[in-house]
Amino acid sequence: MNTEANPADRVSRLRAQLNRAAHQYYTLDAPEIPDAEYDRLFQELQALEAAHPELRTPDSPTQRVGGAVLDGFAPVRHRVPMLSIRTETDTSPAGAEKFDEQVRNHLAGEQRRCELKASEPRHRAEPLHALALAALAGQPIAYVAEPKFDGLAISLRYEHGVLVQAATRGDGETGEDVTQNIRTIGQVPLRLRTEGGASPTLPVPPVLEVRGEVYMRRDDFEALNEAQRQKMAAGDKAAKTFVNPRNAAAGAVRQLDPAIAASRPLSFFAYGLGEVTPPAEGGPDWASHWQALQALKAWGFPVSALARQASGAAELIAFHAEVAAQRDALPFDIDGVVYKVDALALQRELGFVTREPRWAVAHKYPAQEQLTRVQAIDVQVGRTGKLTPVAKLAPVFVGGVTVTNATLHNELEARRKDVRVGDTVIVRRAGDVIPEVVAVLPDKRPPGAPEFTMPAHCPVCGSAVLREEGEADHRCTGGISCPAQRKQALLHFASRKAMDIEGLGDKLVEQLVDGNVVRSLPDLYRLGLAPLAALERMAEKSAQNLLDSLQASKHTTLARFLYALGIRHVGETTAKDLARHFGRLDAVMDANLDQLLQVPDVGPVVAGSIHTFFAQPHNREVVAQLRAVGLTWPEGEPAAHALLPLTGKTFVITGTLPSLSREQAKDMLEAAGAKVAGSVSKKTHYLVAGAEAGSKLEKAQSLGVPVLDEDGMRALLAGGGGPPGMP
Ligand code: IVH
Repeated sequence: MNTEANPADRVSRLRAQLNRAAHQYYTLDAPEIPDAEYDRLFQELQALEAAHPELRTPDSPTQRVGGAVLDGFAPVRHRVPMLSIRTETDTSPAGAEKFDEQVRNHLAGEQRRCELKASEPRHRAEPLHALALAALAGQPIAYVAEPKFDGLAISLRYEHGVLVQAATRGDGETGEDVTQNIRTIGQVPLRLRTEGGASPTLPVPPVLEVRGEVYMRRDDFEALNEAQRQKMAAGDKAAKTFVNPRNAAAGAVRQLDPAIAASRPLSFFAYGLGEVTPPAEGGPDWASHWQALQALKAWGFPVSALARQASGAAELIAFHAEVAAQRDALPFDIDGVVYKVDALALQRELGFVTREPRWAVAHKYPAQEQLTRVQAIDVQVGRTGKLTPVAKLAPVFVGGVTVTNATLHNELEARRKDVRVGDTVIVRRAGDVIPEVVAVLPDKRPPGAPEFTMPAHCPVCGSAVLREEGEADHRCTGGISCPAQRKQALLHFASRKAMDIEGLGDKLVEQLVDGNVVRSLPDLYRLGLAPLAALERMAEKSAQNLLDSLQASKHTTLARFLYALGIRHVGETTAKDLARHFGRLDAVMDANLDQLLQVPDVGPVVAGSIHTFFAQPHNREVVAQLRAVGLTWPEGEPAAHALLPLTGKTFVITGTLPSLSREQAKDMLEAAGAKVAGSVSKKTHYLVAGAEAGSKLEKAQSLGVPVLDEDGMRALLAGGGGPPGMP
């Protein structure tokens, strides 16, 4: 295998192989050699370097980890200052228009200065650049739009293609030397790639400073915090969890022990340049920022796939909206987008105001984290009696909505975060995710704030509260006699995916239960017009509407009915599985544990819960009464479920299909026995993708998951053998 007789040749060949493998693995996410092979090559290189210390160089892959624990970081003076960027706080699309207008206004001002008499003090001698004149003549300005990564800025200095220094931004003039830690990031090239890149004839500049963002992916952040929690549980006093990926990344970069830094999973995106040898001295001759980004990519730096060229304000606005729509699905945090004038000549023309370039702006998205105060911790009682502590917050605008509540999940969680009344907390709300208390600021805790404990009695009905062995949740033992549980059971029964009874909302259920008008589910169908219309905020018309939707809900499906009953552990999917498997309600009600366990995806806990539910005479009575008041659904024969054409296949649907809503496509696939999941993984059999498909499509392509359009899906459902090449 080792054909190089000369150790120096072998060392350089090993380095080239290992660098290539690291680039494939970390940056392109497309490993070419197995991990074991990488390890073998790595060990061979280590052994050679140990035997021949004179062959050791700073760009050797063996030098990514290692080095001594530092006392502190040496200061690094940036030869080209690391500027900050102006922030457009208007989070609406108008923010992009404003920027485009400011760029044009500045150019117009310069043009007026050209037209002044030479004797006037503001006169400008040299004419405007042709691109500026074109813009003033009404041509759209060429921009590059990029995500604004939420990490920390780093400057990487390469001399003759080798990484020699990495520095933080610091105050923009002077940063800190964090080379040891940055070396541990697999995505940061230790040496510029010269072969195999997109541009084969790209000479290596004598000096190249690459600027970009060090960040932590969300999944890496979650895994790191999980590992930290386990250390804490094992009694490690030094371990702590991190509030968000940015803080975790910043902490890792400023670690004095490079071994710890190496254990923290960091990533990198390149987005700009610092000092670069000028063209006249052998440096690159780029005309645009976009060209520079392409060169960086060819040299092996990760450049965001979201970055793109955009012409004029309209395309900036479109970019802002498209990235916003993908924001929650991205594997990393962003806090906005950045627009940059693309042509470097135009950038020079625009110049700087104070320390900020006129040619770039950060256009933020609504913040997903805010500080607020905990005014109280309430305990709410759910449908199954579960007690949930909820932090009542001073209203705060976060993630695009005003938040006043955040769930603390259960006692364990509330204690782990140690949230107390009076605390100042960080609240996070990302996308449709329910708001969450991320952390408490211990310094701001009022003196004497008591630790949270669960009440021993249900705050609604006074029944005893119990926590079962091995469970995190406390439960009210009052069952349906507890008004809180009754209300939640009714709301669940009426919900869209259950009986879909329009008009039966919180406020109404509250009145119906508190006034003892509705004591059980069947009572709903016994409501009359007059008593309903007499309730607060009800008029005859709305009462009639409710009666109509109650009437309409009587014709349902077995799956919806089973789900609506609110059996613990029986969600929408399990209800569908049960309906498909048994066909008839009586078959479900009379099934023994063994028979329930035959249903795909039903395990002992779920089977036990279903069996217990139907073993209670009270529940059987509710079912009998619901049938008596007229609830019906088509009953079938027990499905020979294994024979359905798509049984065992998992689909994901993304984007906008030409003629079907996603819900309709889902129903069609499920009727054919398929499962429809929310995210793409190795276990996904097909992705059905419509227009504007985003990260799910990319993920499917990277995993080699077959992608269907609507027609392809229909062909598969029609059993036409599916598109070519399908299993
Ligand atoms: S360009 C002169 N591009 O945002 C322009 N900055 O002050 C220099 N950031 O902390 C910045 N994503 O680390 C640029 N695509 C991006 C960025 C970005 C994140 C950070 C940067 C700095 C702050 C801007």
